[in-house]
Amino acid sequence: MKTVIVTGANSGLGLYTSKHLLLQDYAVVLACRNLKKAAKAQKWLHKKTGKKRTKIAHLDLASFNHIRKFCLNTPLNNVYGVVCNAGISYAHPTRFTQDGIEETFGVNHLGHFLLVNLLLGKAQNLQRIAVVSSDAHNPDIQGYHPPPYYERALELAYPDDSRVINWEKEGALRYANSKLCNVLFVYHLAEELKKTHRQHILVNAFNPGFIPGTGLGKNSSPVSKFLWFNVLPLFSRFSKAIRTANESGKALASLISEANASGKYYDGFKEKPSSKQSYDKKQAQKLWWRSEELAHLKINEKIE
Ligand SMILES: NC(=O)c1ccc[n+]([C@@H]2O[C@H](COP(=O)([O-])OP(=O)(O)OC[C@H]3O[C@@H](n4cnc5c(N)ncnc54)[C@H](OP(=O)(O)O)[C@@H]3O)[C@@H](O)[C@H]2O)c1
Repeated sequence: MKTVIVTGANSGLGLYTSKHLLLQDYAVVLACRNLKKAAKAQKWLHKKTGKKRTKIAHLDLASFNHIRKFCLNTPLNNVYGVVCNAGISYAHPTRFTQDGIEETFGVNHLGHFLLVNLLLGKAQNLQRIAVVSSDAHNPDIQGYHPPPYYERALELAYPDDSRVINWEKEGALRYANSKLCNVLFVYHLAEELKKTHRQHILVNAFNPGFIPGTGLGKNSSPVSKFLWFNVLPLFSRFSKAIRTANESGKALASLISEANASGKYYDGFKEKPSSKQSYDKKQAQKLWWRSEELAHLKINEKIE
């Protein structure tokens, strides 16, 4: 049975992506950090789909040790796909992963970087990788987030708080940077897979669009939180700019079941260009090398 690992499957986009994967007869590993929430999600999925092919696996992407344990303890023989969906956004104060790395960069990019690299070595039947990014990475698309900006990955891992003037903006910048890293990661990985004759493994980036009401807004200011959870979701029926976790989850699941290209950026079901900066191969290479160092990848775990 083809199995797909979905990170952050207990809520929002991950939950609905799991639903659509189950409806397409995949088995799904709900890879979650909160086991209580995961059990609730599992119940909901069984009820909604009538399919019981889910397994809960404990995964905290804010710990390299935990990611390694997950890969040791999870049966990987049937793993056909992985959906790197989990993500966070917050403003203040700076939070760190168990390894002392700023949490937005650590979870959204570095945790998934390590997970995918380990899976590529251990999951012999892995063929599809989907990484959830966001249009927040693209300065040409007007939105709430400032344009991503950084010069070295180390600045993202160990940011200098003393230069921060506005914490709301800083949180949004860290999020946009992490989402740029997601796209740089995907494009570089697609190239490496081709170079190493593993082009049957397709890897793509995904923008789910604006989906208010998900857990992503839980760390915002009280006013933004109220709008995010109570007001904005009401507009999804009337505004094309607002999507639901269900429709974006369907599109994300299709990157596992229907993908026939690699190294692309999808907005819902449609392929589209990502930001100019995301095509910078030098920056992608530098990010890759630094991520290998930060995540302590061993020589025999490197794919290059
Ligand atoms: N909502 C939007 O408008 C939007 C737009 C563009 C992109 N996205 C992206 O879509 C993805 C899903 O977000 P969402 O909107 O569905 O938000 P969500 O409901 O908060 O889902 C995020 C998931 O990530 C999990 N997670 C957070 N930190 C983790 C960690 N250290 N280890 C493992 N799992 C962790 C959360 O677990 P807990 O429940 O335990 O916190 C949750 O299950 C994210 O990558 C986000 O950047 C969302």
